[in-house]
Amino acid sequence: MATMADVARSAGVSVATVSHVLNGTRPVLPHTRQAVLDAVDALGYTPNTLARSLVTSRTRSIGLAVSAISNPYFTEILQGVEAAALQAGYSLLIADPHDDPRHERKVVQLLHERRVDGMIVAPSADPHQLVGYLRRHAVPTVFLDRLLDAGMAEAVPPDATRAAATPPGAPCFDQVCAESAAPTALLVTHLAGLGHRRIGMIAGLPGLSTTGERITGYREGLAAAGLECDARLLVSGQSESVTAERVVAGLLNLPDPPTALVTANNAMTIGALRALRRLGRSVPDDIALCCFDDFAWADLFSPRLTAIAQPSRELGALAAQVLLDRLAAPDRPGRTVRLPCAFVHRTSCGCPEEPDQAGAARLIAPSTLSEKGTAS
Ligand code: HPA
Repeated sequence: MATMADVARSAGVSVATVSHVLNGTRPVLPHTRQAVLDAVDALGYTPNTLARSLVTSRTRSIGLAVSAISNPYFTEILQGVEAAALQAGYSLLIADPHDDPRHERKVVQLLHERRVDGMIVAPSADPHQLVGYLRRHAVPTVFLDRLLDAGMAEAVPPDATRAAATPPGAPCFDQVCAESAAPTALLVTHLAGLGHRRIGMIAGLPGLSTTGERITGYREGLAAAGLECDARLLVSGQSESVTAERVVAGLLNLPDPPTALVTANNAMTIGALRALRRLGRSVPDDIALCCFDDFAWADLFSPRLTAIAQPSRELGALAAQVLLDRLAAPDRPGRTVRLPCAFVHRTSCGCPEEPDQAGAARLIAPSTLSEKGTAS
């Protein structure tokens, strides 16, 4: 098997130059670089990344732990992370924590044992064990999609027990997520503007920051439209289709059922549509529907789904970039970066088809990419 020394001899350069070309650690003259690459090709040289890791203590790999990888939202996030990581010369190790706190802690430990350089994690609704582990082992981590609550995101844990568990030099955490409240409020005010007075909300898994923010947005939207919040119209679909189908059927059985629904994610939209079809309700004539999450086939439904599009690929790419920034500068302050969503106006809300505007996406304020320092 060809070695680095063979490549160096064949290209007429030093072993150090071969290393710089292959690792991108220093600029090398174009013709020297080409000579090295030609020699690599001709000799079929394959770098031994395990040997390199022993020398550098870095594996040039990133651990990615996200639940529901088959959900298009997370699949697109994964594509964004992968593309950005690959471009920087990093590979990915992927795990699915199944939104289960104990499983989450276990898969993160497995990734850490494989010595990934850092991790991108979409935390579960109860991430205490996870965060404790990442702090104790000083794992550079970007939390994605779901924000840690304020207590957990602090630089210095608020109570002595947790302070004792946090070694000096424990890392700052970074967070990357999409706006959730303003887009949900917009769906509600849009429906209210069409005359709806009883607007139901199918919310996600309790404990996730995305769920909390979308409920806040629902309440803000109702208040902005001068509508009361009827607690019976705010139900949890647990972020999944089967529960959403059941609770939507329950809403329709109320003596005074909603005339419009907001679903807080794509899976629950499918559940809601199943319930409506099973019960013979047509959208939007019997009940209007607006959804959080756009997806590739949302405009193939009849009517076409009015939806909030999350910038999922961008979120993934940004999370990778934020992690790479942290690896390059471990002591930098923690950041929380939020990206705006877009309103994709179609017809399930009850608006008529307007060919010139059909499916047009409109960015929702706060429309500027906000970047706040968070201590964590
Ligand atoms: N978070 C945010 N958006 C989503 C999710 C989630 O877990 N699932 C589907 N859309």
